[in-house]
Amino acid sequence: MRVPPNQDLVVFGATGDLARRKLLPALYELSTQGLLPRRGEIVGTATRELDDLGFRAFAHDAIAEFSRTGLDEQEFATFAKRLRYVPALTDPGPKLAAVLRLPRRIIYLAVPPSSFAPILQELKDSGLSRGSSIIIEKPFGHDLDSARLLNQALHRSVPEERIYRIDHYLGKETVQNLLVFRFGNTLVERIWNRDVVSHVQLTVAEDIGVDSRGHLYEETGALRDIMQNHLFQLLALTCMSPPSSFDPEALRDEKVKVLQSIRPVAPTEVVRGQYTRGSVNGKMMPGYRELEGVSPDSTTETYIALRLAVDSWAWAGVPFYLRCGKGLITRRTEIMLFCRDVPLHLFEGTGIEALQPNRVTIRIQPDEGISFSFVAKEPGPLVVEQGVRMDFSYGNSFRTEPAEAYERLLHDALLGDHTLFIRQDETEYAWKALQPVLDNMPPIKLYPAGSDGPEEAQDLMLSGAWHPLSHHAQD
Ligand code: BG6
Repeated sequence: MRVPPNQDLVVFGATGDLARRKLLPALYELSTQGLLPRRGEIVGTATRELDDLGFRAFAHDAIAEFSRTGLDEQEFATFAKRLRYVPALTDPGPKLAAVLRLPRRIIYLAVPPSSFAPILQELKDSGLSRGSSIIIEKPFGHDLDSARLLNQALHRSVPEERIYRIDHYLGKETVQNLLVFRFGNTLVERIWNRDVVSHVQLTVAEDIGVDSRGHLYEETGALRDIMQNHLFQLLALTCMSPPSSFDPEALRDEKVKVLQSIRPVAPTEVVRGQYTRGSVNGKMMPGYRELEGVSPDSTTETYIALRLAVDSWAWAGVPFYLRCGKGLITRRTEIMLFCRDVPLHLFEGTGIEALQPNRVTIRIQPDEGISFSFVAKEPGPLVVEQGVRMDFSYGNSFRTEPAEAYERLLHDALLGDHTLFIRQDETEYAWKALQPVLDNMPPIKLYPAGSDGPEEAQDLMLSGAWHPLSHHAQD
């Protein structure tokens, strides 16, 4: 693994939840592996009044609680030497400029979207944006117009080549493996199209609720929190054509073509849901409307399912079903491709009445792996079919623990590699496809926490059914 060139890293929102749970632990892990630049400060900035020592103590506790490999005091002492803090009460620009010594720097905006514009202006006014790269977190706007405005504001400060829009799903090993699975195996691409595939289901199910994030989530909802970004990225990687090379732009060009080919989603093809009180994994979860910061008659969706079409040569006519939600029966992210039926049912009149279609399942998390389900003859004198499966599991094949998505993404950004980041046009095309739904949100359907989501989602299915969340993906 390469060591990034010398540079300073500034983290706005350095005492926030993202920094505490993800960024500081990921930077620490990179430090222990020798994957941070040889020279360069990590400067935290936030409204909290802290000094360098206070910030180091904050980082210490965050790493002790959340780091993947646990905190080692000696490693931490080495890491902590880089940590500096600048309180951002008013105009942090000049104070930051005073501690940043290296000509190259990268600035991470781990702050709520409403703070993007003022921080970008501050960076511009203080001259700090000159030569800087910027990392920003989703959501990239809340609809097409605001995404365009945000992109314009970003471009006034830094050019696109120096912007890293993070969708942490792209940092997941299993998501990157989708490209290797598809484009590294002759057999796979042969079946990966409308000739063989009848429909595709993409699921991001979470068994956690919104918990203490009520007031933030009220502004977001499942469409903006997961559908527009994580699920559309999975869709783009599932549908993209082979790129001309593994060059970041070649890859992103192919993803853009998919996002551009999504037929604008009609509100009639969407089901929005919200969880009510219910039992999840044996524990009672309060309903979404009971949460602090949530209006008692909130119409924010905690679940969304939709059907869409990708109007491309490879995928025309194949329905794609996407769903995501919180307070569901299980946590599972997966992509399932269901194959067409065989042309002739040769076994009619035997014990086999209906044949299960072949299915490829990519388990993004948990129990990461890929399986191929097919039918086999059960041993015995009668012709009786049984569903069986060939399975690849990360746990069995590779004995190393995968790095956290943020480790990979921070390392790539420090190296200047854009492959796993979202380009301006990707985010705008994703919003464009969803804009008709944002303009005309369908009514909320309630579902009890701990279920598969609203039953109305089944009505979207042209044939077949959603793969039940209550069953293991391998079933
Ligand atoms: C985040 C969303 O982007 O992804 C959260 O804002 C969600 O609402 C989280 O819980 C899920 O991430 P993961 O990596 O646990 O699937």
